Amino acid sequence: MRMFAIDCTGNYCIYSLSEQCTVKTVMFANRYLAIMQLERIVIIMTLQIIHVGLGGWGQNWARTVVAENKDVETTAWVEIDATALEAARERLNLPADRCFTSLDEALKTVPADAVLVTASLPGHVPSARTALLADKHVLMEKPFAPTVAEARELVELAEQRGRLLMISQNYRFQPAARAAAAAVAEQKIGRLGSINLDFRRYDNIAPVAEHRHYHIWEPLLADMSIHHFDLMRLVIGQEPVQVTCKTWNAAWSKYDEPAEGAMTITFDGGAVVNYRGSWVSTAPKTNWSGEWRMEGEKGELIWTSRGELPEGAAIRLLGETELTPLALPELTALDRSGSLAAFAEAVSTNSIPETSGRENLKTLALMFAAIESAKTGLPVNVA
Ligand SMILES: NC(=O)c1ccc[n+]([C@@H]2O[C@H](COP(=O)([O-])OP(=O)(O)OC[C@H]3O[C@@H](n4cnc5c(N)ncnc54)[C@H](O)[C@@H]3O)[C@@H](O)[C@H]2O)c1
Repeated sequence: MRMFAIDCTGNYCIYSLSEQCTVKTVMFANRYLAIMQLERIVIIMTLQIIHVGLGGWGQNWARTVVAENKDVETTAWVEIDATALEAARERLNLPADRCFTSLDEALKTVPADAVLVTASLPGHVPSARTALLADKHVLMEKPFAPTVAEARELVELAEQRGRLLMISQNYRFQPAARAAAAAVAEQKIGRLGSINLDFRRYDNIAPVAEHRHYHIWEPLLADMSIHHFDLMRLVIGQEPVQVTCKTWNAAWSKYDEPAEGAMTITFDGGAVVNYRGSWVSTAPKTNWSGEWRMEGEKGELIWTSRGELPEGAAIRLLGETELTPLALPELTALDRSGSLAAFAEAVSTNSIPETSGRENLKTLALMFAAIESAKTGLPVNVA
C-alpha cells in the first residue's frame, strides 16, 4: 500500500482516495495527525500491482479494468513473449522502462504489493509461485492451475507466506447471479431438486489457423464451463459430489478438442444439475452465464446474466401461471471490476475473499472430475 502525506498548507496532509482503511492505517494516521498537529486527515492508499500476461484478455484487463480502478496503480507490465510485449506496449502506450519479459526482473526493479496474473494457463502457476515467494499477494485469472495438486501447492504457499491468493471468478459479480443465490439461500423455492442449465454460443466463424481458441486445451470444460461450475457452487449453496460427463465435437466444429458437452452433477444437499454447453451451437445463443431453470419444492427459479440478452431472475411458485421478477441488487463493481475491487478490499482489510485460492479448489476439482469422466465414460467423485 502506498500512503501519501501532503500538508493542507503545502507541507503535510494525508489524503485518501480509498474508503478501505484498515484499523492499523487509521491508528497510524491518527498518530501522524497528532505529531504533525494537523486538524484533518485523509488517507490515500493505492495497491501497487505488477500485471503479468498481456495477450488479448490481459490487455483488456489493463485498459478497461485496472486503469479504471482508482485504488490500484500498475507499477510494471510483464509479458514473456517480447513481440507480444512490444505490441501491447504500443497499443496501451506503456512506459518502456516498466515493461519486462520476466516477472523476476520486474520484482527486482519496481515496488509492488501484488501481482495480477492474466497470462494463459501455462503461465499461472510459475507466475503465482514467483510472486508469492517474493511475498506479494496474487489475483489470478481462471482456470486456477493445470492440476489440483499444483493449485493446492500454491494455496499452501500463500498461507505459509501470509499472502492472499485469489482467483478472479468474474461471473459471480453480476446482479442476477447474486439475486438467484440470495433467493435460494432464503428458501424462496424451498429445497432444491433438478437444475437445468444451458450454455450456447456459435464461435465457429473465424479461419481455423487464426483463431487461438480453436486450439486450446478443453475449450468447453476448462475455458468456459469453469465459470458455470463456480456459479453452481455460489447459487446452489451446496458442494458437488459426483459428475458424469460426455463431451464431443459436432461435425462442423473447427475446434481441435471437444467444444460440446453434457453432464449430470450431484450435490451434497440433494440438488442435481443437468448441464449442457456448446461453443458451436446453431440454436439461439444464451447469455454467458447460461440459461438457468432451478426447481425447488415450492416452485421454480429462472435466471440469466452477463451478455447481450436482458439480465434477470424470476420465481414461479407451484400453481402460479405468471413469473414474479426478483429485484436485482445494485453492485458497486461488475464482473472483473468486481473481482479487482474485492481483491483490493481483502488486501487492505486483511480478510479472505469469497474466491480465495483455497475456496476455489472445489470449483477446480469439479472441472477436473468432469474432464476425467468425459475421458473414461464413468462417474467421477469430486475430490
Ligand atoms: N474470465 C473471463 O471471462 C476470461 C475471458 C477470456 C480469457 N480469460 C483467461 O485469461 C487468461 C488469458 O487469456 P487470453 O485470451 O489473453 O490468452 P492469450 O493466449 O491470448 O494470451 C496469454 C498471454 O500470456 C502470455 N504468457 C504466458 N505465460 C506467461 C508468463 N509465464 N509470463 C508472462 N506472460 C505469459 C502469453 O505470451 C500470451 O501473450 C486465460 O487464463 C483465460 O482463461 C478469462
